[in-house]
Amino acid sequence: MAELLEPIEKRRAYRTLSEKKIPGDVVQRILKAATLAPSCFNKQPWRFVAAESEEALQKIKTALPDGNYWVKKSPLIIMALTKNDLDCRLSDNRNYAFFDVGLAVENFILQAVSEGLIAHPIAGYNPVKIKEAFQIPDEYILLNLVIAGYPGDDSHLSEEYREKERSPRERKPMEEVVTLNEWKF
Ligand SMILES: Cc1cc2nc3c(=O)[nH]c(=O)nc-3n(C[C@H](O)[C@H](O)[C@H](O)COP(=O)(O)O)c2cc1C
Repeated sequence: MAELLEPIEKRRAYRTLSEKKIPGDVVQRILKAATLAPSCFNKQPWRFVAAESEEALQKIKTALPDGNYWVKKSPLIIMALTKNDLDCRLSDNRNYAFFDVGLAVENFILQAVSEGLIAHPIAGYNPVKIKEAFQIPDEYILLNLVIAGYPGDDSHLSEEYREKERSPRERKPMEEVVTLNEWKF
């Protein structure tokens, strides 16, 4: 138990990335961790594209808003894609594709943290531009990018982001999001 809690607690959405390349065996292990996630009826609705060549990385880095400038240092970006008909669609609006991709992405992130990497998920990018650049069919949803890299120095970060790297984790109090035995929200 303690072993798993360690990367969970260590993980933060850090931005202090170095450009140092990530060895192939490390990339394979973190991708494997993602694909070992559970999914509804074992549908495995996730599709991952790992961008590590300069050409592939540039296709993504040119589709970012200004606030995500810190991504430009990353040597590895994982795109997480799916579409609704790849997974269970059950009663009462239970469409499981996004849920199952989320499980896989968190596996990915925790294995990356265990390997000494920063792994920061983002939604701030132009999905249409990236899908065009990679010739990804329109019906796929580019749900998330995980920005990975070894920790580096913070000289490229704004004062605001530098401060965030050091600030305590912000979370709602447990009683605001969890109850025991009854619905109290
Ligand atoms: C779906 C999703 C989208 C996010 N988008 C961005 C983003 O575009 N840029 C960014 O810097 N951080 C982004 N984040 C990181 C969150 O801001 C961060 O996880 C949150 O503030 C909690 O901080 P912590 O991860 O350090 O606990 C995103 C996180 C998630 C899960």
